[in-house]
Amino acid sequence: MDEQQQNFYNEVLIVVLLIGVIIIYFVVTIIRYHRRYIKLQRERILAEITIQENERKRIANDLHDSLGPLLSSVKLNINSVDVHNEGDEKLIDKAGKHIDEIIKSIRQISHNLLPNTLERKGLIEALREFTRHINEEKIIRIQLHEKAYPQIAKEKEIHIFRMIQEIVNNTIKHAGAKNLQIGFSEEENNILILTKDDGVGFDVKKIRATSGGLGLKSIESRTEILNGKLVIESELEKGTSYIIKIPL
Ligand SMILES: Nc1ncnc2c1ncn2[C@@H]1O[C@H](COP(=O)(O)OP(=O)(O)OP(=O)(O)O)[C@@H](O)[C@H]1O
Ligand SMILES: [Mg+2]
Repeated sequence: MDEQQQNFYNEVLIVVLLIGVIIIYFVVTIIRYHRRYIKLQRERILAEITIQENERKRIANDLHDSLGPLLSSVKLNINSVDVHNEGDEKLIDKAGKHIDEIIKSIRQISHNLLPNTLERKGLIEALREFTRHINEEKIIRIQLHEKAYPQIAKEKEIHIFRMIQEIVNNTIKHAGAKNLQIGFSEEENNILILTKDDGVGFDVKKIRATSGGLGLKSIESRTEILNGKLVIESELEKGTSYIIKIPL
């Protein structure tokens, strides 16, 4: 190899090295940018969900503290009306019963918006209360298998409660199921939340790409905030399973 050839190879090597360095620089920049984008995205979702939770708290308190007592005093006033006619008496009785139902509904709505039990007694007790109310309606039978529930940080429980609440709502609204099983297990320092209904099922891929609903998106966002993973398995006419894995 003469000197000219040697110089040529050296130059080619330098150019290749330079191109390599430039490519590595771009790849690293793209990866960094992508990571920053994901971090910002996660922070944005967390901020949105925090605003949503605070708003729910405010509405729940307003409903509970102002509408509740107001309706109770309306009922008191109605009951104290002096009636002498049997027809009017029946009407007042009926109005009183309706007011009782409204008070009950308002309490239920404000409890769903702000599950006090969750803060006071934790996730399992809140879920027991929530599923008991639904089972009383006799539209669906929800079975809660909570024995294997591993204790989990309090700030994570609100997210898990909201996700299960949405899964139950979806099952009632869309599945036409008779039964819904909700269970927990622990696996390699993760909590697994498993639900299974025996309803009509749905095309998960298609619906996730096209649905304008907010429920599945909210479950996805909360799973993301908790660094978890969500899998939905569904088969037409067989039912749907939600599997959520969250690091403890
Ligand atoms: N358990 C289920 N069984 C059958 N279909 C389901 C089930 N869960 C979800 N789906 C389907 O997925 C769709 C999207 O659900 P998602 O919760 O995102 O929206 P939504 O319930 O329609 O509206 P929103 O939750 O905003 O009130 C539903 O419209 C329904 O077609
Ligand atoms: Mg929904």
